[in-house]
Amino acid sequence: MTLPLVTPLPNIAFFDSGQGGFTVWEAIRMRLPSLNTQYLGDNARYPYGNKGEQTVTRYSSEAAYFFSALGAGLIVVACGTASSVAVQSLQRVFRIPVVGIVEGFCEDAASVLRGSEKNRSEGKVALLGTRFTVSSGRFERELKTRGVGEGSVWARACPLFVPLVEEALVPGPLADAACELYLSDMPADVDVVMLACTHFPRLEASIGKFLGQKFGRPVVARRIDGDVVVHAGGEGAPLYLLESSRGIWKAVDAFLAEQTPSVRENYFQNETRVYCTDAPARFTEVARVFTSLPVGEVQEVTLGV
Ligand code: DGL
Repeated sequence: MTLPLVTPLPNIAFFDSGQGGFTVWEAIRMRLPSLNTQYLGDNARYPYGNKGEQTVTRYSSEAAYFFSALGAGLIVVACGTASSVAVQSLQRVFRIPVVGIVEGFCEDAASVLRGSEKNRSEGKVALLGTRFTVSSGRFERELKTRGVGEGSVWARACPLFVPLVEEALVPGPLADAACELYLSDMPADVDVVMLACTHFPRLEASIGKFLGQKFGRPVVARRIDGDVVVHAGGEGAPLYLLESSRGIWKAVDAFLAEQTPSVRENYFQNETRVYCTDAPARFTEVARVFTSLPVGEVQEVTLGV
């Protein structure tokens, strides 16, 4: 492992296999612009979504170890794949609190179903993620503990969505074709679509258009700061598109609220540090697809031994 020469100020650290986690990082930074943050994209080993459990767990431990040496107060696993498998073991091994996207996201989905006209146990969820996330069954288990009925989750792995976003081909005809490929057999009675890969929020417009036209229903995307209509056509109950940052926001907010005022103040010095594990120039170019906030100079680091 190589560490940066300068130790950062107290911070909240985010990691992903690549740049998708910037969708979560950006949502938090929009809310708290001067929060000190670190972001690590393990792009040398991206994608995680087609790898196996032991490999994803090892990569995630190495990222957490990296941040534990760099003043992180809270580690955010801003990757659906790593969150599906590694967070519980990281929570056992590291003294720093670690939060993944699964619990808060499932809570958010359950709360939308609670607010819908249907009884929560009748509500239907469509889960879109990487191959690994979908095959792990982790979201289904977590939804079940929140009363979402067994058999009410339609899950689909959408691996091609990831490179389409990274290649800035979204929205566009290829993104429309990928929606057709993956979503044509989604049941019509779905209430909530969970974008369980942190790359997927950038496909919101394409997914919203496809599903809005397919089902003739309005499609609404939930945000931290209020809902946005993605597809206005059609009648009937809206179909909600959910991304994971609302759950993470709650965890970040709770972490900061637990700090004494003087410690909390140290987290707000407007320091941003971004690291990747390969080709920083290309990493920075792709980062622009995911966030309009400046990422500064991206430092290349190595993880593991
Ligand atoms: N951002 C990752 C996730 O949320 C997807 C990319 C990958 O396969 O590594 O699962």
